[in-house]
Amino acid sequence: MTALTTRRFLQTAGLLIAGVVLSACGKKEPPAAAPAASAVASAPAPAVKVYVVGTDAAYAPFESQNEKAEIVGFDIDVVKAVAQKAGMEVKFVNTPWEGIFNTLQQGDRDFLVSAITITPERKQTMDFTEPYFDAQQLIAVKQNSKIGKFDDLKKLKVGVQTGTTGDEVVTKLQGKTSTNIKRFESTPLALKELESGGIDAVVADNGVVINYVTNNPGSKFKSIADKAFQPEQYGLAVKKGNADLLAKLNKGLADIKADGTYDKLYTQYFGAPAPKGAAAPASAASK
Ligand code: ARG
Repeated sequence: MTALTTRRFLQTAGLLIAGVVLSACGKKEPPAAAPAASAVASAPAPAVKVYVVGTDAAYAPFESQNEKAEIVGFDIDVVKAVAQKAGMEVKFVNTPWEGIFNTLQQGDRDFLVSAITITPERKQTMDFTEPYFDAQQLIAVKQNSKIGKFDDLKKLKVGVQTGTTGDEVVTKLQGKTSTNIKRFESTPLALKELESGGIDAVVADNGVVINYVTNNPGSKFKSIADKAFQPEQYGLAVKKGNADLLAKLNKGLADIKADGTYDKLYTQYFGAPAPKGAAAPASAASK
């Protein structure tokens, strides 16, 4: 070794040693400081679990964003009331419908409220509370449309929100390979496309269609009901096997149904009390 390389070597070694010492200090320091810090923090306010609730907030009147970008709606108020009964803290996070179920799997969301229809297929990958709302598909068309029933949509361009029960029924009617099914990221986008004449109809949940038709008279839509549509029920979804949380939510739901909170919210949003016996805990148990 020349003098130069030796010095270089020593410098490098010195840096390495310094690095090791520093990183060792770095590792040692937080644990030493942590107990003191957490003792201070936990003494006045023990950490409360905040449940993260996923919702696709483009589905008025169930969940949408107001002018202040706050997530509001019937579903939101129901969950807030349930949480209050159950002594839980909740935080709503806007979550696109596509992939919303995955967020449960990945643990990014603790539970979901999103006008989610309880279906046998979905029950295989997640758990649902007792139902809290009765729904049905409804067709939206232009007021001057000749469409009169679901079967009329067989060969027409129909808009749906991807992966919804509306998508399912239209896929069943037209066949999996149909190119006439126009799938949208959200239901409002499908309705906008109907307004601009790109499609002939939209099939979506009745509450959402009625809300849109009523609040957007300029769109000149009407809605068409059909007996072909099966009754649906909404539930809150938790990760499969999360029995603890499921029990909490079910208890909260039963409580708000029993003390009139649920009926108050239903009337506030839908203008009339919930039909008697609708979405009652008993009707789910018998399913
Ligand atoms: N009820 C329908 C379903 O479960 C549509 C729900 C869509 N909800 C929403 N927030 N975009 O498939």
